[in-house]
Amino acid sequence: MKVLEGKTAVVTGASRGIGKAIAVKLAELGANLVINYRSDSKSIEDVIKEIEDKGSKAIAVQGDVSVFSDAENIMKKAVEVFGSLDILVNNAGITKDGLILRMKEEDFDKVIDVNLKGAFNCIRHATPIMMKQKCGKIVNISSVVGIVGNAGQINYSAAKAGIIGMTKSVARELASRGINVNAVAPGFIQTDMTEVLSDKVKEGTLNSIPLKKFGKAEDVANMVAFLVSPSADYVTGQVINVDGGMVM
Ligand code: NAI
Repeated sequence: MKVLEGKTAVVTGASRGIGKAIAVKLAELGANLVINYRSDSKSIEDVIKEIEDKGSKAIAVQGDVSVFSDAENIMKKAVEVFGSLDILVNNAGITKDGLILRMKEEDFDKVIDVNLKGAFNCIRHATPIMMKQKCGKIVNISSVVGIVGNAGQINYSAAKAGIIGMTKSVARELASRGINVNAVAPGFIQTDMTEVLSDKVKEGTLNSIPLKKFGKAEDVANMVAFLVSPSADYVTGQVINVDGGMVM
């Protein structure tokens, strides 16, 4: 039997990159998927097809995680369509990089709204459902820059550090309810998000990675798959780096 057979998983920002890889991996392990996307309805159709090819079911739910009522709708859809909400992966994220002297107020607010408040919104609406079920697994996608900081990313690293504090607090609140909450902190993963970076930045980053290679979306998906599986039933409140040894 597949380890996630009969489980329902919500993955936010699943139209591409790490979110897509997580959704496909969880489907491979037997979960039914609620995949959230903000605007890319064409790509999300392809993700549904990949999930169905793995033998699982999937629905796509449009919504902006930074909007409280959209997050509520995504969680409700899981219960309406599949009858439960067992796994929540807060993956949706954006960057709006800039040095502190030049950073616009709206670029700070937007990144906090999507990356930090978006995770809060989803956890807020998933919690009552998981508490009623007396079980659940939540994984928040943070970043190594939330641990060590990064010049040019004060908004992003603040949001990702916030995710870590939120993960530990929610883990403490919900542990007695059978709900595990962990974070994954990826290093440099090859996706559309990092593709836009200059060759100079990429080269500099590569030099700082002991394993001397960039990560793949599947590397992050494999860690998430472990954390939401029964093998990690005794793991909560942790931040696991998937970064080729970049931060240790
Ligand atoms: P990506 O840009 O390829 O994918 C992000 C996804 O989030 C997209 O599908 C996008 O449409 C969605 N999204 C953005 N705003 C949204 C909103 N308001 N509501 C719903 N969905 C929204 O980026 P990637 O690389 O796949 O990143 C996924 C997560 O991993 C993000 O949280 C990112 O911060 C994090 N991460 C990525 C790293 C990397 O090196 N690529 C490193 C560390 C963390």
